[in-house]
Amino acid sequence: MASSRPKRSTSRWSSAAAASLLALTTLGALAEPKRSGFDDMSASTQAMQRDDVQNPGMLAAGQGEALWNAQPPGGGQSCASCHGDATASMKGVAARYPAFDEATRRPIDLQDRIRACNARRPGAPDMPHESEELVALSAYVGLQSRGTPTAPDPDPRLAPFRARGQALFERPIGQLNLSCAACHDARAGGRLAGALIPQGHPNGYPLYRLEWQGMGSLQRRLRNCMTGVRAEAPPFGAPDFVELELYLQSRAAPLAVETPAVRP
Ligand code: HEC
Ligand code: HEC
Repeated sequence: MASSRPKRSTSRWSSAAAASLLALTTLGALAEPKRSGFDDMSASTQAMQRDDVQNPGMLAAGQGEALWNAQPPGGGQSCASCHGDATASMKGVAARYPAFDEATRRPIDLQDRIRACNARRPGAPDMPHESEELVALSAYVGLQSRGTPTAPDPDPRLAPFRARGQALFERPIGQLNLSCAACHDARAGGRLAGALIPQGHPNGYPLYRLEWQGMGSLQRRLRNCMTGVRAEAPPFGAPDFVELELYLQSRAAPLAVETPAVRP
């Protein structure tokens, strides 16, 4: 299916285009009302997301459903054997992640929550970040929150981590010395080498990206933005990513979860 789509260059916006952005526009704060990336897409890409038959993310969610119910290779318990029917037990869960994790006393995102559950199954093989299995299970759990407003975990123990996420969002990075905020707060709605700069909300992940011709997590998306400004991205699962995700989630609330979304 994916191979029938037109090929695109690996990066839609070059570092040079990002550098020239600095000279072209003035700084400002995040505009209200909040706009999902969906709102800024072409009609045909919106139609692809809306129609479950056309949306390639639904294939991943379907694969996730099969994994949910299957006994893992090590012979341990299925997700369903502990959690039952996901359409009931996982309803609304993705809308409030990252959440506070009692075991590590830190925020944990949905992917790492799933990885931790998987790791407790005797003999189950690891589910690495961006693996097909983990993305599929995250898409399936996320689907159970589709349409639910993003609802940050109010646990006060998360506040210092959220503040760190905000500081990371506002810190200039990379050879271009641009912060996330410089694009997604100050210049949202503007254009960068033909691509519209969205407000940068996390409400669709994991999602199918036309440029990737495949599924990816929010961290994969953030890595793209980091390398776009010639910054070194932390490894998948790094605390910096989870703290950024935590801030992005509170910044996005109450936009509805769109998982599995489609993006250009
Ligand atoms: C030079 C401008 C620029 C910077 C800096 C930048 N981004 Fe982006 N970002 C974009 C553009 C443009 C897109 C839209 C996708 C595309 O065309 O590449 C995007 C997409 C996103 C999305 C996906 C939104 C959706 O609807 O799926 C998120 C989330 C995001 N950025 C977060 C961040 C974070 C966090 C940082 C800082 C680590 C960051 N971005 C830095 C330009 C930027
Ligand atoms: C042996 C029982 C067991 C299995 C098997 C299991 N889990 Fe869990 N899961 C739990 C428990 C218990 C929690 C509550 C948090 C904790 O104790 O860590 C949890 C929490 C979760 C949460 C967070 C729920 C919330 O409300 O915050 C998600 C998502 C989740 N599990 C997904 C999965 C997935 C996906 C699988 C299969 C790969 C799975 N779990 C397998 C026991 C299990």
